[in-house]
Amino acid sequence: MFTQWRFFSLLEFLTLLLFISQSITAHPHPEFPCNPPHHSSYAFCNTSLPISTRAQSLISLLTLDEKIQQLSNNVTPIWRLGIPAYEWWSESLHGIADNGPGVTFNGSVSSATSFPQVLVTAASFNRTLWFAIAEAIAVEARAMYNVGQAGLTFWAPNINIFRDPRWGRGQETPGEDPMVAAAYAIEYVRGFQGENRNSDGSRRDDYGSGENNSFLEGSDSNLMLSACCKHFTAYDLEKWGEFSRYNFNAVVSQQDLEDTYQPPFQSCIEEGRASCLMCSYNSVNGIPACARKDILQKAREDWGFKGYITSDCDAVATVYEYHKYVKTPEDAAADVLKAGTDIDCGTFLLRHTQSAIELGKIREEDIDKALLNLFSVQLRLGLYDGDPIKGQFGKLGPLDICTQQHKQLALEAARQGIVLLKNDNRFLPLNKSTVGSLAIIGPAAQNTSILGGGYTGTPCNPISYFEGIKEYTGKVSYASGCLDIKCTAHNGLTEAIQIAKEADVVIVVAGLDLSQENEELDRFSLLLPGKQMDLISTVANSSEKPILLILTGGGPIDVSFAKDDNRIAGIIWVGYPGEVGGQALAELIFGEFNPGGRLPMTWYPESFTDVPMTDMSMRPDPSRRYPGRTYRFYTGDNVYRFGYGLSYTNYTYSFLSVPDKLSLLGSFQKHLYNVRMLSQSRDGHEYVPVDEVESCDALRFHTNVLVTNNGEMDGSHVVLLFSRMPATFRGAPQKQLIGFTRLNTLSHSATATSILVDPCKHLSSVNKHGTRILPLGNHILMLEDLEHSISIQT
Ligand SMILES: *[C@@H]1O[C@H](CO)[C@@H](O)[C@H](O)[C@H]1NC(C)=O
Ligand SMILES: *[C@@H]1O[C@H](CO)[C@@H](O)[C@H](O)[C@H]1NC(C)=O
Ligand SMILES: *[C@@H]1O[C@H](CO)[C@@H](O)[C@H](O)[C@H]1NC(C)=O
Ligand SMILES: *[C@@H]1O[C@H](CO)[C@@H](O)[C@H](O)[C@H]1NC(C)=O
Ligand SMILES: *[C@@H]1O[C@H](CO)[C@@H](O)[C@H](O)[C@H]1NC(C)=O
Ligand SMILES: *[C@@H]1O[C@H](CO)[C@@H](O)[C@H](O)[C@H]1NC(C)=O
Ligand SMILES: *[C@@H]1O[C@H](CO)[C@@H](O)[C@H](O)[C@H]1NC(C)=O
Repeated sequence: MFTQWRFFSLLEFLTLLLFISQSITAHPHPEFPCNPPHHSSYAFCNTSLPISTRAQSLISLLTLDEKIQQLSNNVTPIWRLGIPAYEWWSESLHGIADNGPGVTFNGSVSSATSFPQVLVTAASFNRTLWFAIAEAIAVEARAMYNVGQAGLTFWAPNINIFRDPRWGRGQETPGEDPMVAAAYAIEYVRGFQGENRNSDGSRRDDYGSGENNSFLEGSDSNLMLSACCKHFTAYDLEKWGEFSRYNFNAVVSQQDLEDTYQPPFQSCIEEGRASCLMCSYNSVNGIPACARKDILQKAREDWGFKGYITSDCDAVATVYEYHKYVKTPEDAAADVLKAGTDIDCGTFLLRHTQSAIELGKIREEDIDKALLNLFSVQLRLGLYDGDPIKGQFGKLGPLDICTQQHKQLALEAARQGIVLLKNDNRFLPLNKSTVGSLAIIGPAAQNTSILGGGYTGTPCNPISYFEGIKEYTGKVSYASGCLDIKCTAHNGLTEAIQIAKEADVVIVVAGLDLSQENEELDRFSLLLPGKQMDLISTVANSSEKPILLILTGGGPIDVSFAKDDNRIAGIIWVGYPGEVGGQALAELIFGEFNPGGRLPMTWYPESFTDVPMTDMSMRPDPSRRYPGRTYRFYTGDNVYRFGYGLSYTNYTYSFLSVPDKLSLLGSFQKHLYNVRMLSQSRDGHEYVPVDEVESCDALRFHTNVLVTNNGEMDGSHVVLLFSRMPATFRGAPQKQLIGFTRLNTLSHSATATSILVDPCKHLSSVNKHGTRILPLGNHILMLEDLEHSISIQT
């Protein structure tokens, strides 16, 4: 009997093993919570229950020690509940990247589509494109999750303002304008979190990008993936002299905070409905961002944030170790948890939370609050809904990555973002049937590693500049001229001079790479690195014909020498154009499309480096010869202005219909005389606090514009609508972007377009108390040189 029992039991055991191994083969995802039959009966696995009930139920099953184990990006398994390890940290800035431990390219997926760096994509000023890219990245992310090569929570977008041209991570952002950064954040988050999806995961065809899409709101809404608005807030310095991001105290006025630093985050939360915020390393006015309860709570209470807050990596440790904001590690742990930070990227909370509790600095309930936020996001992602392969995104797999469609989108993005900066005597486009021989010079020209910039994974099929251009003519020669981008010494200069002499057209690829600007690396100079300038001049001298200069990299470069040099006929900012950047550049050079990208940041002259990078003030201060920052406030000269970009044609504008005046009467909460009393500023200018305007919606109007393409080539054109405020009220921007759109135009034809203006949002500014106000009087709307005055009256 006994033997027989054992025999059957062994058979059963083998059958079970076989079953397990089969199910592993059928389900490439290694492990998942709520795995039937043993781990699916918990209430937190019951999909009929509300998210908060499920989350609470899970919390109630955990011991204090298990709870503390949750407070890190790298969560250890709770096997008794069938919950495997989870890694919160995956990256997806402009394609899936393995900068975080949640992503690996070692597996059945060995590459993913690498879209242009965000700054280049921003230069397209095309919301539809921004949404489409985020959507494509989301598909690849889910596909990689399904094979166990990525998590579900990603730490993008980076929406800090590109405040200083030296910032090493400015490349990762949508640029210097808060409105553009906000618009980018909304599109990225909506596209990435799957707002265009039906509840079964299928794509909604009627979904377009833009402002007026409704979606399931609230804490119960499903998420395809989780996006994270980072770095909250006023973070834009890596390492400058003795200052590093780990110890920097950003001193920010209430005025600058409200109208420059916070708007992208507010939009990312309010309109993008992001499910994660990352608090930054720096302090804000003396308090480390991850311990700033007021700012973190404002996101939840005023902006309706529903999600989790992670610290930047080791940004809890830095509260104690670098900022020395508190006396003990336990105080740091207690402070950040009480402020509203839910997880520490790192191990600090794992190590110090227990003793913080024992010392009475924090209670278990404070941890439960964090866990509620964390589990709610995981539940919305479907992490506790059982086998991911059976879920709504379960069909996505390796075949959905690096698809023809995604590679085409990466190409399209590069085409739309590259900016033409100079084109003397219509030097470009080159005619491929008559071009003759080409010389390509510069260490970046044959290097595909330079295409993506920061947070690049393994691209699908990268195409270097050299390879892209080679497609157009058989007669191409190459010389590096410098060893690398640093160009501390020339390398093959003789060869470069030689090929420049012989070729019909000379192209020099110069600029920056991550050895010049990167995470933890700001620049000190805005000039080209090393001997690059010398290389360009020498080559220009050697060539009998004018040359073409291609600039790589994210940060602005002072290329005044090239701008003013008529031996340099053309300049193109290619930035970090992504995996097929070489093809897009070549197409532009040979006129396959009409360039339409515009600079999303000011290009300052080298003299700007006299300004301390640590000075966060946006507004100029003549008393200390401080020039201010970004096109909105900077009073000095520039090399290229924000919004600059040429095309192969030229455009003229006319206003079709715009109101001449707007009356606020009737939209006040209070009687008119009350408002008048409220609205006199000390210097006599009248304004209305935006909070006092009862119906901002009623004030919205359309600016209808006719755009005429006066050239021989069709083009996709960016319309930037700026405004200037009435006369001078103190601290008003010189001008500000209030709307933008990108439209297709036909050669020698006019196209009408319409830009919606919301005066409360777009024509307002922030006073020095941090209050948003709408100045009365004449506001000037501007399209390049064309102006229209609109009077706002009571
Ligand atoms: C899931 O919850 C619903 C609603 O409370 C309940 O009716 C149902 O029995 C639960 N299912 C399981 C398997 O426990
Ligand atoms: C890739 O994964 C395999 C299997 O896990 C491992 O043996 C190998 O060392 C990994 N390779 C790299 C380069 O990490
Ligand atoms: C390119 O050159 C060829 C041959 O001279 C000419 O026929 C063609 O019109 C040119 N194309 C353009 C766009 O100028
Ligand atoms: C290619 O570019 C990468 C990234 O900029 C750089 O690290 C590498 O040294 C370059 N390789 C060569 C051969 O210049
Ligand atoms: C280029 O030529 C000009 C005038 O011929 C000369 O002054 C200059 O030094 C040359 N520059 C280089 C880098 O050879
Ligand atoms: C606009 O483009 C047309 C055709 O390309 C050209 O003839 C004209 O001179 C251009 N006008 C301006 C103001 O650049
Ligand atoms: C904006 O981008 C989308 C997606 O790539 C593209 O289809 C559309 O043509 C672009 N719009 C313009 C005007 O270029």
